[in-house]
Amino acid sequence: MSQTAQQTAPVTRARYLASDNTSGLCPEAMDYLARANVADDLAYGNDAWTTAASDGFRDLFETDCEVFFVFNGTAANSLALASLCQSYHSVICHELAHIETDECGGPEFFSNGSKLLTVAGDNGRITPEGIEATVTKRGDIHYPRPKVVSLTQATEVGTVYDLADLRAIREVADRHDLRVHMDGARFANACASLEVSPAELTWRAGVDVLCFSGTKNGLGFGEAVIFFDKRLALDFEYRCKQAGQLASKMRYLSAPWLGLLETGAWLTNARHANAMAQRLSDGLTDIDHVTPMFDTQANSVFLQMPADLQAGLRDVGWTFYTFIGEGGVRFVCSWNTTPELIDELIANLKQAATRLGY
Ligand SMILES: Cc1ncc(COP(=O)(O)O)c(C=O)c1O
Repeated sequence: MSQTAQQTAPVTRARYLASDNTSGLCPEAMDYLARANVADDLAYGNDAWTTAASDGFRDLFETDCEVFFVFNGTAANSLALASLCQSYHSVICHELAHIETDECGGPEFFSNGSKLLTVAGDNGRITPEGIEATVTKRGDIHYPRPKVVSLTQATEVGTVYDLADLRAIREVADRHDLRVHMDGARFANACASLEVSPAELTWRAGVDVLCFSGTKNGLGFGEAVIFFDKRLALDFEYRCKQAGQLASKMRYLSAPWLGLLETGAWLTNARHANAMAQRLSDGLTDIDHVTPMFDTQANSVFLQMPADLQAGLRDVGWTFYTFIGEGGVRFVCSWNTTPELIDELIANLKQAATRLGY
């Protein structure tokens, strides 16, 4: 590029609301990562940080659960589901579930073929009726036997299952001897949204296994797989090792988690992200041709808007996805999303809409 072209090129800077994976590590995670780096410690999870973080989860969930640390959400979900299923079993999930749409067949692969049976449901939620219909559709030996219900909390479209939803699902699960798995990619956001404790939103409502995302909550990487029914955790460490998910220096996965747990940042981060999503939602009410697709109950906002309006936003540096959930433009807020950034987005949207004559 010539000197003149460089000087006259429009200055755009990327502005990241495409995913909560775009944000960095929160200070608490960084602090504990640095603390874990001061002295050497034992490998493969036998270190003091991993013990403390596991105990931290037991305190948070108010129960004696089994805790494992893995690198990412696909591994957490795939390995957790594999531990609940035989190869001839099936997992009932929403048709938009990440395990169905975005894990490259990982759950089927790690369970040696357990089939995912998808169910439709409004606002990203499966219903007891949908589960019942799927379980009772066939009872013969030619059909993969339903064994697990998998729920995403918060859902792929930014809504949540409340306690009544969860209890009703547990009831149908009990009737049909189904385990309940929760993909908690945004579990902290759901706790913040519903203002209920982690215990209430999991084992007290009938969840057997939770995959709790740290990455989306302020860590650089790392998810916790938490078994509330400890019998289901039998040999899980072997699954982790075989799948390449046993971190040798596990303290670098677990210490940042301890930072989130000991400081309460897991909840303040989630509350902040939710508040930013709400700010965005509230700021869009008077823009023609920009229509919310779902209630904003967690940290993401899904919008329908014309293609030229989307292009107008991209032109000034906004990043967002349009292929997630039921489509539409998805903005996701994180622990470090600022009110100023949200206000800038709202202003840019209004400017683009005016320019395009909407
Ligand atoms: C609902 C849901 N589950 C799980 C994941 C975890 O995916 P990954 O394997 O990329 O960490 C994500 C990440 O976007 C997600 O949105």
